[in-house]
Amino acid sequence: MARFAAILVTVLSVGYVRAIAVPSTTPSGAVSVDPSLVSVSIEFFAFPGYTNITGTNNCLANLATLRGAQPAVRIGGTTQDRATYNASLQTAVNYTVASPADAPTSLTYGPSFFTLANGLKGDVTVGLNRQLNNQANTLSAASLAKSSVSRLLALELGNEPDLYSSSSPIASGTGWSNSIDISNEAKWFTALAPTLGNIFQGAVYLSWNTSTLVSGIGSAALATIKTISRHSYPQSACGGASTNLPSLMSHSGIVSYVSQYKAEATIAHNAGKKFFLGETNSATCGGGGISPTFGAGLWIIDYVLQSALIGVDRLYFHHGTISNCAYCWWGQSAVYSPYYGAVFVSEFLGADGAKLAALDNGTSAIAAYAVYSSANAPLRLLVVNTNYYNGTGTRAATTVQFTGLTTASGTKSAKRLTAPDATSRTDEGAQVTIGGNGTFSGSCVRQGTEGTESVAVNGGALTVSVLASEALIVYL
Ligand SMILES: *[C@@H]1O[C@H](CO)[C@@H](O)[C@H](O)[C@H]1NC(C)=O
Ligand SMILES: *[C@@H]1O[C@H](CO)[C@@H](O)[C@H](O)[C@H]1NC(C)=O
Ligand SMILES: *[C@@H]1O[C@H](CO)[C@@H](O)[C@H](O)[C@H]1NC(C)=O
Ligand SMILES: *[C@@H]1O[C@H](CO)[C@@H](O)[C@H](O)[C@H]1NC(C)=O
Ligand SMILES: *[C@@H]1O[C@H](CO)[C@@H](O)[C@H](O)[C@H]1NC(C)=O
Ligand SMILES: *[C@@H]1O[C@H](CO)[C@@H](O)[C@H](O)[C@H]1NC(C)=O
Ligand SMILES: *[C@@H]1O[C@H](CO)[C@@H](O)[C@H](O)[C@H]1NC(C)=O
Repeated sequence: MARFAAILVTVLSVGYVRAIAVPSTTPSGAVSVDPSLVSVSIEFFAFPGYTNITGTNNCLANLATLRGAQPAVRIGGTTQDRATYNASLQTAVNYTVASPADAPTSLTYGPSFFTLANGLKGDVTVGLNRQLNNQANTLSAASLAKSSVSRLLALELGNEPDLYSSSSPIASGTGWSNSIDISNEAKWFTALAPTLGNIFQGAVYLSWNTSTLVSGIGSAALATIKTISRHSYPQSACGGASTNLPSLMSHSGIVSYVSQYKAEATIAHNAGKKFFLGETNSATCGGGGISPTFGAGLWIIDYVLQSALIGVDRLYFHHGTISNCAYCWWGQSAVYSPYYGAVFVSEFLGADGAKLAALDNGTSAIAAYAVYSSANAPLRLLVVNTNYYNGTGTRAATTVQFTGLTTASGTKSAKRLTAPDATSRTDEGAQVTIGGNGTFSGSCVRQGTEGTESVAVNGGALTVSVLASEALIVYL
């Protein structure tokens, strides 16, 4: 008894203790996980450049190895609606920018653009132009995409039409609105589907509700839609708006933010369509200082899993101008802090993770998850301590006790994702590590030997301690 009391006092002095029961079989409320849940979006004009960086292939391959399936890639973004296809162009893209940090205001692209897209190993979604109202030009590009990209999943016609205006060529001087866009998507899809098939990614909205399109587009056009895309950026630095890393990372904040998409996912599924966050990342307009941080990496872990729980089939994390992109996972010759989150959540889900369950109610800073096999056995546990530690003062630890394990005693292993603090940036030399020593070379090759920690199991329970702004996987 005395020994028990001493242990309890020690544990309590570290921080608060939370006991979480691990269901021994897949609980109700668990969701299936798409093998390409963690996917990538690449800005249209920058795509050929990305294929010329070894980091692109290696960063995607690392995720594929962990999940046993290739991440999907969506090629698109603002510049898809500035691009005109030129069948005689000898290069993949052609444009002029004042500075390499800029995105072009106008560009052309040629047939070899699709040769490069065909080199991708996972599902490919290509975003083409609607805003310039040149349907014949888009159709010729789409036809080549269809015939030359063997893993083509879907085609987008237009990006974020919520941002078109009455002066956009597509508006033809008659104004622009959500209902006009829905009619316009219907018109384009039904005009092109006889040539291309029922292959469209519909909506592609940033601020409009995608369910307006699903319920309002009409059965003929709906039949041509394969997938529904919603864009999602929890924060923005546009127009000097301020960003906030503690709130980005916050578990309860993520749960609340993601819940807004649940109705849209359900409505898309009820119509027989996949629902994607087809372009997403932490903060628009340069990231406001928070996007390249380790805290944004922790955000990715929790955001991906919460999204899966409310019915998002895939998240496509956006990559913009090479080496001028705060939220990117990799650049010309560097791998950034957020990528560590993408890798860690992929390791947690694994190639054998079939079902995901939340083990907490989403009200605190501590996120806890379990992943189950297709045979309904718990495989791994994950704790994300989203309490914000910025490097100043004491870094508090939270102790989590998992109970109800199917093993009564012995040891389990655990792997930790950590960094000096939530603001740590690998591009500023900070050591973000997986398993103590695991990092990535500038071309995204895994380096350093990852270690695991031994965790004792007593009476079917184990206890782990996770520091503020840190995450831990337990292998059952
Ligand atoms: C590919 O990379 C090489 C070496 O960095 C560079 O010289 C070349 O301009 C790049 N080509 C494209 C199309 O980006
Ligand atoms: C299309 O590409 C050809 C060959 O490079 C070039 O001569 C022509 O000017 C381009 N057309 C446009 C409209 O850019
Ligand atoms: C490439 O774009 C520039 C303008 O950005 C233009 O002057 C040039 O003619 C284009 N080249 C081709 C081959 O289309
Ligand atoms: C989107 O529309 C659906 C159906 O009307 C509604 O249930 C849901 O709350 C809406 N979502 C948002 C974020 O407004
Ligand atoms: C959520 O869990 C916390 C910690 O376990 C508990 O204190 C709280 O009462 C729960 N809230 C709800 C709404 O279930
Ligand atoms: C870090 O957080 C502490 C409070 O937890 C605050 O007083 C301090 O100003 C912060 N430091 C920086 C560099 O943001
Ligand atoms: C990291 O590598 C060093 C040197 O090889 C080794 O001593 C240490 O135990 C490793 N740490 C972990 C957590 O594996």
